[in-house]
Amino acid sequence: MQIESGCDSRRDLPIGMFDSGVGGLTVLKALRRRMPCESILYLGDTARLPYGTKSAETVTRYALQASARLVERDIKLLVVACNTVSATALEPLRNAYPGIPVIGVVQPGAQASCRASATGRIAVIATESTIRGRAYERAIHAIRPDAQTTGAPCPLFVPLAEEGWLDGPLVEGIAARYLNPIFHPASGSGRPETPDCLVLGCTHFPLLAGAIRNVIGDGVTIVDSAAITAKAVEAELRARGLERRATECGETRFMATDDVPRFSRTGGLFLGTPVAPDEVELVDL
Ligand code: DGL
Repeated sequence: MQIESGCDSRRDLPIGMFDSGVGGLTVLKALRRRMPCESILYLGDTARLPYGTKSAETVTRYALQASARLVERDIKLLVVACNTVSATALEPLRNAYPGIPVIGVVQPGAQASCRASATGRIAVIATESTIRGRAYERAIHAIRPDAQTTGAPCPLFVPLAEEGWLDGPLVEGIAARYLNPIFHPASGSGRPETPDCLVLGCTHFPLLAGAIRNVIGDGVTIVDSAAITAKAVEAELRARGLERRATECGETRFMATDDVPRFSRTGGLFLGTPVAPDEVELVDL
């Protein structure tokens, strides 16, 4: 007979994950695909979305409140699925929960872009707050000091993705307005060397990858940090002996801070499978 150790019971705890809203479900989807036996508790702070236009102080306060709600439900690892929070508040979260590994999306995305770029010219698109804080640039330069980075905020991509407006002339027109100065600079602008890698540094942007691809062309590698973050989570769980040993699929539970019907509707779009309203618990932070 095998006696269950404290560590074995921790293995069965869920992974906690939060985002400002439904966008982090792109990371959840990648994690479920990579580690189907893990249970996941997801919180979307839909009442206060967007985080990407807010100050670092406000984002940090919201992140501490959201993570506290997950930690009180007992989680074995915290995934910060939001790029804006990963870029601004990872250290405060790690300090608040020294016993829980905290994984953000910026570091895995930076690593993937350094691997993907042949020339070292890397562009990052994200929310205003993420670009302002330059966290991607710092993470990329720490890995590859010779990298030449360019960052551009693309705030309109967030509501477009939430509306399900993912392609067509209107979306490509907006994408061109944001991306042409980087990838198709006017001749004589003094910036002929365009990036060979584009990091989608926001949870919502992978949904617009087709329109973005049509604007930037085929020669640029697009890095979506969701899949690479899932890999980082798996590596961290393995290193700590915390992966769940089970043959059946894990359970996914959702919490939202406002408008459960909307979470369910847009969440299904991001997850690629329906999210029934009765699967979503309304919580206050
Ligand atoms: N989740 C945010 C991010 O990845 C995008 C939405 C927001 O601005 O809150 O940066």
